Amino acid sequence: MTIRALRETSSSAKNAAAPKLDLATRLRRNRKADWSRRLVRENVLTTNDLIWPLFLIDGAEPRRPVATMPGVDRLSVDEAVREAERAARLGIPALAPFPYVDPALRDPVGSEAENHRNLMCRAVSAIKKAVPEIGVITDAALDPYTSHGHDGVLTEDGRILNDETVAILCRQALALAEAGADCIAPSDMMDGRIGAIRTALDGAGFGDVQIMSYAAKYASAFYGPFRDAIGTKQTLIGDKRTYQMDPANSDEALREVEIDIAEGADMVMVKPGLPYLDICQRVKDTFGVPTFAYQVSGEYAMIEMAARAGAIDGERAMIESLTAFKRAGCDGILTYFAPRVAGMLAAAA
Ligand code: PBG
Repeated sequence: MTIRALRETSSSAKNAAAPKLDLATRLRRNRKADWSRRLVRENVLTTNDLIWPLFLIDGAEPRRPVATMPGVDRLSVDEAVREAERAARLGIPALAPFPYVDPALRDPVGSEAENHRNLMCRAVSAIKKAVPEIGVITDAALDPYTSHGHDGVLTEDGRILNDETVAILCRQALALAEAGADCIAPSDMMDGRIGAIRTALDGAGFGDVQIMSYAAKYASAFYGPFRDAIGTKQTLIGDKRTYQMDPANSDEALREVEIDIAEGADMVMVKPGLPYLDICQRVKDTFGVPTFAYQVSGEYAMIEMAARAGAIDGERAMIESLTAFKRAGCDGILTYFAPRVAGMLAAAA
């Protein structure tokens, strides 16, 4: 049937099969035009919501691509400074650098993490010197530095030692704070690390350094490309299920967040992002604290690879996925798309 025939049939009074519906409310009315959709929009993604995670590498090359994250490169310190300048021009509030550590410097207890002249510390101080106004949020965890790829100290019988690891994390946090980090983001999931790091920072005169806790961090398959980027995929022995959370759990995430807030976390994070939007929403609804989500490497790769294969519209999928975090109640998102989104938003303004 043609549209015209359909119209004639349904407007005919004799035709009882297609009556005009008598509806007081038609939600489609508010969607009829762009002006109206903009007017009733409940959540808006802005550049102020973005934290840009980037990867660092030592050596002569300015950039080295990450094969499983098309469009993302590991950056030399000089190149990271240039990107920080670009991020500041775009209005991105903060960066979250992660290091690819020379395998020769990795050992079972991650000693290099405590080296005040390590790649991270050099990059943080160079970035803060060149672009003091941008926030630098540094991960505290041992995985880039350990020969076995775990976030903590691994015993011969395969256990991760909690309290021994926390002591090292405190020294790592102090090295980062001394280099100029504005905020420490412990991503290791050891028990008690937020309080211990807070005490260590305060004791050393870093009372203004914030803590963004990776509070509800799950043992996820979506970290694959990140482990390529920092070179832990080949070396990781076993998995991280004895410290990262079981993806089946939700109430437990609230307990993790509650404890981290009590220990002094200024902001909390849920990670990964999209598969855990329910957790984001519960955390924000329950505690009302600054809540962030990490759209992790595997989420980035899924969108970017699907877009490059022509399966989806990459830009729309990027904005849609990030807007979903806002809808779930997040105050901001760590995303590898940050510079692209900021560029798009600036062009649209
Ligand atoms: C490790 C750490 C991971 C990520 C951030 N910090 C990976 C892991 O726990 O193995 C993942 C980020 C991403 O996948 O983008 N402390």
